[in-house]
Amino acid sequence: MSNRAPQPWLKPGVFVGALVPLIVIAGRGLRGELGANPISQALNQLGLVALIFLVAALVCTPLKTLVGWTWPIRLRRMLGVFAFAYAALHFLTYVVLDQTFDWRAIIADVTKRRFIYVGFSALMLLIPLAVTSTNAAVKRLGFVRWKRLHRLAYVVPILGVIHFTWRVKKDVREPVTYAVVLAVLLLIRAATFLRARRSGSSSQRSGEG
Ligand code: HEM
Repeated sequence: MSNRAPQPWLKPGVFVGALVPLIVIAGRGLRGELGANPISQALNQLGLVALIFLVAALVCTPLKTLVGWTWPIRLRRMLGVFAFAYAALHFLTYVVLDQTFDWRAIIADVTKRRFIYVGFSALMLLIPLAVTSTNAAVKRLGFVRWKRLHRLAYVVPILGVIHFTWRVKKDVREPVTYAVVLAVLLLIRAATFLRARRSGSSSQRSGEG
């Protein structure tokens, strides 16, 4: 297999798969199968899909570190962009269908309801990540600055989980599940970082000796 394009079906396959939730939600909506409160249901489902993509984008690097799989890394950018697209659709559903462009109510919600404020912040932080998701942007910013900016990829799902927890109020089992997954991913990341730093400084010491 060529080094440049192993598993050529991988990216197109994941791309098509990533559109399935949208098709399913839109289809259910059009057929009137979203229950008594279809707007709220569509809103919740799009938000949940956005959160799942955010977490999926973060799983790619640990899979390489822990299991040695490199192919998920090639999907990371696409998963992140889909997370942004679903979060944007979630927001648009809120603005267009839920609030019917009532900007006063929207501003009041964003400033006064803490769960909406946190969701809005998550979306705002996703914008620079989506805008700088191209190879050209990596070149323009320089890899070090680009990498520093993309650490926000950890902050956004944390805000997403807080947004989810504050929204559900009582039964927090589902958001807590996402919080646990995120905590594990962050721990793996921190452990890899510390190990790399320690081995870097010990090789520096042996270089000096
Ligand atoms: C990265 C950004 C965001 C993520 C990951 C996200 C995720 C979620 C999740 C997981 C839920 C609950 C789903 C469920 O209960 O099954 C939710 C609900 C909700 N989100 Fe977001 N959200 C984001 C941004 C926003 C923004 C920008 C707004 C509006 C300004 C917003 C407004 C809402 C509202 C109003 C609900 C509750 C809907 C209802 O109960 O009818 N979210 N979101």
